[in-house]
Amino acid sequence: MEWKTRVTELLGCKYPILQGAFGGFGNWKFAAAVAETGAFGLITASTSRTPERLREDIKRCRAATDGAFGVNVSLGSTLKNPEEMLEVCIEEGVPVETAVYKPDALAPRIKEAGLKWIHKTARVKDAVHVEHLGVDAVIVVGLEGTGFKSPEQLPTMLTTIWAKKELKVPFIAAGGFGDARGFLGALGMGADAIMMGTAFMMTKECPLKDALKQVMVQTAPDNQQLRHRVLAIADPKDLEEVMKLRNKMPQGEWLRMLERVNLKDPDWRNPHSNPSAVIDRELRVVSLAAGVVDRVLTVKEFVDSIIQGAEELLDSYQFLKTR
Ligand SMILES: Cc1cc2nc3c(=O)[nH]c(=O)nc-3n(C[C@H](O)[C@H](O)[C@H](O)COP(=O)(O)O)c2cc1C
Repeated sequence: MEWKTRVTELLGCKYPILQGAFGGFGNWKFAAAVAETGAFGLITASTSRTPERLREDIKRCRAATDGAFGVNVSLGSTLKNPEEMLEVCIEEGVPVETAVYKPDALAPRIKEAGLKWIHKTARVKDAVHVEHLGVDAVIVVGLEGTGFKSPEQLPTMLTTIWAKKELKVPFIAAGGFGDARGFLGALGMGADAIMMGTAFMMTKECPLKDALKQVMVQTAPDNQQLRHRVLAIADPKDLEEVMKLRNKMPQGEWLRMLERVNLKDPDWRNPHSNPSAVIDRELRVVSLAAGVVDRVLTVKEFVDSIIQGAEELLDSYQFLKTR
């Protein structure tokens, strides 16, 4: 079956599946491995660190695969030079995914350069805003997901259905996806593709320790710690306090503090809050998708399992069509 959607047409990938960005380990090798499966791979610019290195990484990725890939440029947070990273993407002609903070300042340059542009957000109203800025597609991440969470985030199902009602541009659903049923469900709710972050972290090619992947695949969807971090609403008092600090400190520092509040980090006031064990640190930011995936597979096996599973499901639903 051919999986053609507005997003596969826009990005040139075979399947309507996108890899999430990963600050710290979203490198070109991982992106190339994902792109090779037919899904859309993503290099995270903050992992490349410098514009020179990003250019090299794009070239290496291109040499390693004929598959489609792009670059995540996260704004307002850890990445110090988003404008320079964007220029590299323009020169190399690689689609860009902006995320984390509003992209208004970069929008004119992206549009003038004619670059393919996706923006990721956690609220439908921000998705509508970037549609007006001329974005080609939007990723809307629901509550079950991770990344930069918003206190106003709604569950993924509601977010996806609402996004379909409000948006004219293609959109990508994200937040807790990791299997064929979720994939098909998102397309059924009107999404043109899904993005997966946490689920791709459990693949063999992901450059993280096996021990972490084992912890993740053994995590149940109702894991108390994970549920609290991902689904619970941040303490209103902490939120109020952090909102008051907004213009009193550098923006990047403030955004990271807000993120710690959203993740219910009890030590959120401490800019160095950083649990020593790697497993703790990483599990601190993974989503409920950790409860959906139960095996460590290669990226090819994983993407194939979603596509084949979805095709089997569609076959098994044939009886519905005859009524
Ligand atoms: C460990 C980790 C690091 C991430 N780093 C970034 C990042 O640097 N920039 C960004 O835009 N999103 C980042 N994300 C968010 C993902 O790109 C993606 O939007 C999110 O994981 C989707 O939700 P899911 O994990 O439920 O699939 C990160 C996610 C994880 C799990």
